[in-house]
Amino acid sequence: MCGIVGYIGGQAATPILIDGLTQLEYRGYDSAGIAVIGPSGARRVRSVGRVRDLEATLPKRLAGKVGIGHTRWATHGAPSEANAHPQADASQRVFVVHNGIIDNARALRAGLEADGVELTSDTDTEAIAHLIARTAADTLEEAVLATVARLTGTYALAVLDTAHPDRIVVARNGSPLIIGIGDHEMFIASDVSAVVRHTTQVVHLDDGECATVTAGGFHLFTADADHVGKTATTVEMTAAELELGNHRHFMLKEILEQPYSLERMLTGRLDERFATARLDGLNLDPQALRRFKRVKILGCGSAYYMGQLGAQLIEELARVPADAEPASEFRYRNPLIEPDTLYVAVSQSGETADTAFAVQEVKRKGGTIVGLVNVVGSTIAREVSGGVYLHAGPEVAVASTKANTHMAVGFALLALALGRVRDLSITDGTRIVKALKELPRQIGEIVADGDKVVEAAELLATAPSLFFIGRVRGYPTAREGAQKFKEISYRHAEAYQTSELKHGPLALISPELPTVAIVPDDELLDRNIGALHEISARGGEIVAITHHGVEVDARLVIRVPKTEPELDPILLMIPTQLLAYHAALALGENIDKPRNLAKSVTVE
Ligand code: G6P
Repeated sequence: MCGIVGYIGGQAATPILIDGLTQLEYRGYDSAGIAVIGPSGARRVRSVGRVRDLEATLPKRLAGKVGIGHTRWATHGAPSEANAHPQADASQRVFVVHNGIIDNARALRAGLEADGVELTSDTDTEAIAHLIARTAADTLEEAVLATVARLTGTYALAVLDTAHPDRIVVARNGSPLIIGIGDHEMFIASDVSAVVRHTTQVVHLDDGECATVTAGGFHLFTADADHVGKTATTVEMTAAELELGNHRHFMLKEILEQPYSLERMLTGRLDERFATARLDGLNLDPQALRRFKRVKILGCGSAYYMGQLGAQLIEELARVPADAEPASEFRYRNPLIEPDTLYVAVSQSGETADTAFAVQEVKRKGGTIVGLVNVVGSTIAREVSGGVYLHAGPEVAVASTKANTHMAVGFALLALALGRVRDLSITDGTRIVKALKELPRQIGEIVADGDKVVEAAELLATAPSLFFIGRVRGYPTAREGAQKFKEISYRHAEAYQTSELKHGPLALISPELPTVAIVPDDELLDRNIGALHEISARGGEIVAITHHGVEVDARLVIRVPKTEPELDPILLMIPTQLLAYHAALALGENIDKPRNLAKSVTVE
């Protein structure tokens, strides 16, 4: 979704802004723009389409050592040059880039029009630029404070004012914003990936905070306090991790990275002596962990499916009732928050608006909420009272792969910790710890053995519609498999419980509708094999994802190594990532940036 960059310092701003916007491309956007203040005043350039389209329209000389830039994902008004950011006031004195949505934009725009202001865009952001420019205040900071006081909704703002070319003023409420600290130069971004080439020292703004950013430093303030003290944190990410290297797509790169990233995630977290997981970041001691009678997991999209997988792991290993719900639903239904429930927010980006809101709802009602989050220092990571960082490293492809695997493993660790303060025996704990240690190597085996997957993907890519089926442990894997497939191949892929097949969907089975079946070698194997017979008897083609040694009646069989039954769904998921990838590749789709989707949905 929308991205913000800003620069002030001794270098030419334009290349830094363009580079920052390019780094933010993965978030999804439909137009882009920059504004730079140079010796001869301010220049703004905007364009519909990609950042490279914007770059192509830049004048040869766009001098200036201070500027702001934006990639826009249309919310108020269609993607067009007029609606692209930066938005400006009538005299082109004030320029604003904005992430988020202003809920009272209609009223603010109407008020401005009633005052004779001619609006040139359909955006909520334009109103902000006019309001700042029209506020009678001594300083830009006062004008920004007075304006944000009139806004309801969410925003991360960066404001440039030709009357104050020595600064950028920023403000945050509900949308992420960071300040990157350089040597006599400062950066602004909505996402650390935009600044990590220049600095690893960042300051995260909290809601309600504003800052004046100059080449020499920054000054944080709020409506109530002239000064907010905050120290910088060091970003773990390196610029190299954001490079494609020899890979064709980030999605494949990220799938192949999993053995190493998982090894890193598990380092120091497995306690072999006590057969448990060391999760100090949860900030919950054994007594506190025992107190919970229930676990409720909240996430969106793939994170929600991983929450389903996690709920099963927690029920199986810890014998604590657990379930997952889309955070996007939870937040709108006045949920009951119970004091003896452990709430868990799961999110790769840590910025998904629906999940962040659900976190706040739980907190407002006095619940305990922890996070399974990938991006360190992200909004959700900072809102929760503790958690397990996923340490998957940056994930650039919109279709999440390695972060999903890390979420599933994160839930296994949580289940282990919850189980070992209850009735999970040391023998069972040891069994899981040993299996977790083996996972990275086993994933390595799966990703190295891709031939069958490519064949299956090419077969599936020709079908307009397909089923993904799985039973009990295999069902979340089937749901995530279908999600990944539809996200990037644009083929209709529907997940079903294998057990439910005969209660309806069997009617659709035909040679034209293939089925991907998740068939673990566990206590339900016979039942799953029976369901596959029912499919083949009706002429349906089957791609089975199963274990070595299992005899299945299928057109193609993809085999994965066996782990402990509770962890099988994690390994069975890896081929579904590759299936989606190779199907989209065969169809020639834009794998890393699928249409209509954003990496991180920071608006509601
Ligand atoms: C978006 C993405 C999905 C992702 C979901 C949750 O919808 O397109 O791929 O699963 O957000 O993202 P999160 O960052 O919270 O895990």
